[in-house]
Amino acid sequence: MRTKRLFTLGLTALLTATTMTAQTPKLSADNIDEVLKAMTLDEKAQLLVGAGNDAFVGSGAMMGHQKKLVAGAAGLTVAIPRLGIPATVLTDGPAGVHIDPIREGDSKTYYATGFPVGTCLASTWNTQLVEQVGQAIGNETLEYGCDVVLGPGLNLHRNPLCGRNFEYYSEDPIVTGMIGAAVTKGIQSQGVGVSAKHFAVNSQENSRTKVDERVSQRALRELYLKGFEIVVRESNPWTIMSAYNKINGFYAQGYKDMLTTILRDEWGFKGIVMTDWIGKRADLPTEMEVEAGNDLMMPGYPAQAKDIVDAVKAGRLDMKYVDQNVRRMLEYIVKTPRFKGYQYSKPDLDAHAKVTRQSSTEGMVLLKNNGVLPIRDLKTVALFGVNSYDFLSGGLGSGCVNVPYVVDMVQGLKNIGVKTTPLLTEIYQNYVKYAKAKLKADKNPMMWFLDQGQPKLDEIEISERCVTHELREADAAIITIGRQAGEGVDRKIDGEFNLSQMEQDMIFRVSSQFRAAGKPVIVILNSGSVMETCSWRDRVDAILCAWQPGEEGGNSVADVLTGKANPSGKLTMTWPIAATDHPSTKNFPQDIEMYSYREMKGWGRGIPNEDYTNHEEDIYVGYRYFDTFQKEVAYPFGYGLSYTTFEFSKLTTKVNGNSVTVSVTVKNTGNVAGKEVAQLYVTAPKGKLEKPAQELKAFAKTRELQPGESETLTMTVLKRDLASFDETGSKWIAEAGQYLFKVGNSSRDIKLTAPMKITEYTESVHNAMAPKQPLNILKQK
Ligand code: BGC
Repeated sequence: MRTKRLFTLGLTALLTATTMTAQTPKLSADNIDEVLKAMTLDEKAQLLVGAGNDAFVGSGAMMGHQKKLVAGAAGLTVAIPRLGIPATVLTDGPAGVHIDPIREGDSKTYYATGFPVGTCLASTWNTQLVEQVGQAIGNETLEYGCDVVLGPGLNLHRNPLCGRNFEYYSEDPIVTGMIGAAVTKGIQSQGVGVSAKHFAVNSQENSRTKVDERVSQRALRELYLKGFEIVVRESNPWTIMSAYNKINGFYAQGYKDMLTTILRDEWGFKGIVMTDWIGKRADLPTEMEVEAGNDLMMPGYPAQAKDIVDAVKAGRLDMKYVDQNVRRMLEYIVKTPRFKGYQYSKPDLDAHAKVTRQSSTEGMVLLKNNGVLPIRDLKTVALFGVNSYDFLSGGLGSGCVNVPYVVDMVQGLKNIGVKTTPLLTEIYQNYVKYAKAKLKADKNPMMWFLDQGQPKLDEIEISERCVTHELREADAAIITIGRQAGEGVDRKIDGEFNLSQMEQDMIFRVSSQFRAAGKPVIVILNSGSVMETCSWRDRVDAILCAWQPGEEGGNSVADVLTGKANPSGKLTMTWPIAATDHPSTKNFPQDIEMYSYREMKGWGRGIPNEDYTNHEEDIYVGYRYFDTFQKEVAYPFGYGLSYTTFEFSKLTTKVNGNSVTVSVTVKNTGNVAGKEVAQLYVTAPKGKLEKPAQELKAFAKTRELQPGESETLTMTVLKRDLASFDETGSKWIAEAGQYLFKVGNSSRDIKLTAPMKITEYTESVHNAMAPKQPLNILKQK
């Protein structure tokens, strides 16, 4: 009897256990439906909201800095162990992995390689090399225990004053898209994902969480969305980050037109959308974000999960949207290394240092050279400018990387046997130590980003006497002009875009004495963004834009100056004579007090460029404006000098169905080996739609060509790529007629042209993201 009862009990237990197992499946790539069914509403809501981070809750700080799993990473997704769902780790991005390098109770270090910032990387115009950089970043993401890196940054350089331009690639959407796709392919080849950001029109830092970017559908489609479209179509990013700002009256994070109609229905995006790091918004209901197609709210507040549950229960949110987003989250999770149980090991930082050095060397742009460069027999240099000794490897904010070291100019020159004058070096090096300590001591708690990267130290005055002393000891003078910028603050014209009086004086004093003595003066620009050059460039012999080139910067500069490397970088944005030359400057925040990230109470006072920004320049951004309206510039889009010369020949164009194949032969006609970029611009025939004078449609870079050597480059342009967006009828249209295909090595230096008859191409799309009010937009006369 007793045996029977025991047996019955055992059987019941076994049956219960079996039923339990059947009801609680563990997540795998092929049981997503089952797991979805087994999830409670609470669990679903939790999965759509990030796991928060320690520093964020209550502190008001926006940066990641969660300490769980990977210290210093930006955020986590929620784990649901009952269903075998692990937490996944999201890290910034985009110039390398942003995590804490030193951790309590851990003797190991977790420094990450500092790669060149976006502007430098894009200036290589070398998609293969950029893909290699992506592989290295992806590998560090993987080995340091992260699943997604928050980059690439695909916002356009609408205006040179944007504080985060250094993280973005270009004023042109084709360059943005092609470089972004190359980085994405590289990163994702390592089995981790990217988050292409900030979708979209996050073109200013001031008021970035609330500003309404008012922009035409045409400019959106052709410019601000285009880079994202290319990246989605070409490289299948795992995730996209929706921007803080509004577009035409709607928060990007709740904009169904953009996050579903355009991104998924038109472009075929298959991944997840996560919000930028804002948490619960005061004036955007969480359910609207869910319904719009924002799968993950970052960094995540419990209140947001509650909102989702409440909205479903109250019938304000259809369960189908919750299920759809949860499914996408599960599809994302099963791809991650965390889910797959990857065994982490240390990344090869030495190998990655080589990759970063190669890319920083190739991204540097030689702006001026009156023949002094390369200086092959350089022996002793007088190094002026505080950033010669505190070389800026990257920008401030979430995009900074905790690098193991930065090679400054002194070290870079020393590594190739060039000395720096001892007294000046000592004075500056002592000053740098002092100024860094002072900055730390004086730290303003509002300037939270000072902890995130290398702030710019003030310059010191260089007297005539100092220059006279240096002149005796040095064969050449190098002056480094540094600029720092970052998250949360836009750049000012005075002292940031323009040189300060002290910098002007330094250039004047150094150049007067050195040049009078027949000794060259070279300026190195250590800035992630565009600067003013016309007022001082005649005073110096050469200018090298080194950008913020990552941890190996000083080595790369030394290689270029001495001719060990031949520069082949080209500008991906126009350098105007004055910042006000850009038509967008008139509608760009200037001198607005530094903005705190908290959503301000009482905003909506109708302040231009704070509450809303009108894109009156419309499609005339960058060279599209300067070339169409025939304005003089300091250095044009696509420009960059070399130590050799190239000849372009044999331009051919061939139509194959809906695409045009263009080929051109590039020959090195000079005396040293070098690489050249062929840039393909197209001028459309006059038609119904107004068009810019020319637009970049493709580009290709040669391999290193020896003197006398040639390479034939082939580029493909789809007829769709020639189309403009016609707002009447919401369609892409390339009007029939004769197009001019032009190949050159800057937008102002066209070498060859070929006319080509094209039949009409049209493609209807949704009427999405229309402005709420008419825009006063710029037209050709
Ligand atoms: C930035 C993002 C970044 C995120 C996480 C935000 O403030 O805008 O670019 O990825 O923080 O750190």
